Amino acid sequence: MFDRIAKRYDLLNRLLSFGRDRVWRKRVAEYLPQGDEIDLLDLATGTTDLLISLCRSKETVKYGVGLDMSAEMLRVGERKIVTEGLADRCALVHSDAQALPFASNSFDAVTIAFGIRNVPDVPKALKEITRVLKSGGRAIVLEFSLPKNRLIRQLYLFYFRQILPRVGSIISGDAYAYRYLNRTVETFPYGEEFCRLLRQAGMNIAGHSELTFGVASIYAAEKPGTNADQGSKRN
Ligand SMILES: C[S@@+](CC[C@H](N)C(=O)[O-])C[C@H]1O[C@@H](n2cnc3c(N)ncnc32)[C@H](O)[C@@H]1O
Repeated sequence: MFDRIAKRYDLLNRLLSFGRDRVWRKRVAEYLPQGDEIDLLDLATGTTDLLISLCRSKETVKYGVGLDMSAEMLRVGERKIVTEGLADRCALVHSDAQALPFASNSFDAVTIAFGIRNVPDVPKALKEITRVLKSGGRAIVLEFSLPKNRLIRQLYLFYFRQILPRVGSIISGDAYAYRYLNRTVETFPYGEEFCRLLRQAGMNIAGHSELTFGVASIYAAEKPGTNADQGSKRN
């Protein structure tokens, strides 16, 4: 499915989120580990927007690896990395987030934006994230969620169910993809329920923020080895 929509993916992201997707990706940088140079893995990297945003905004990202299962998404992403002059700091890998082709304890940070929802076995992918993180390393997940306020939630669901699939279908030429989006978002765990999955994968929650009325959320979790589990933070 992502191979089919790769060429129009970025345009649709900007359009359907009213440009918010860029702001949300920038917020992920706030949760990266502080201090020294870091090795970063961006899972379900797609067309590499998050990888590029993090490498551009944080000098401390020494090396970034983007991983995705869709060859076409990676092809679009590769071109962008070259255009951005990041080819010497970034590499792309065609693989599955449920079976990462990396040694244990390899990365200081693992990010995944709007990707975990698409992985068939979420606990397995989260365990893989824990495995490849160094002790004290951070997992940062950006994913859709649903607004808590009832009125905002109803308005959002109307947009999400009635408008977004139609616009997505016309521009991408793929009716299935944007129906799939709203179905998966409405059924995927978010908030405390998703924090529980992170804990079950062996991580401690280091932060949790709701973005744009709760339409999206950022979860930061740490592999044990430092003082984590400081509670939740909401914006
Ligand atoms: C909605 S896109 C998100 C792309 C990018 N992270 C972003 O923020 O725009 C979801 C991506 O997850 C990838 N994906 C789905 N299942 C995957 C898996 N098991 N392993 C790796 N990537 C996967 C898809 O190929 C697609 O590129």
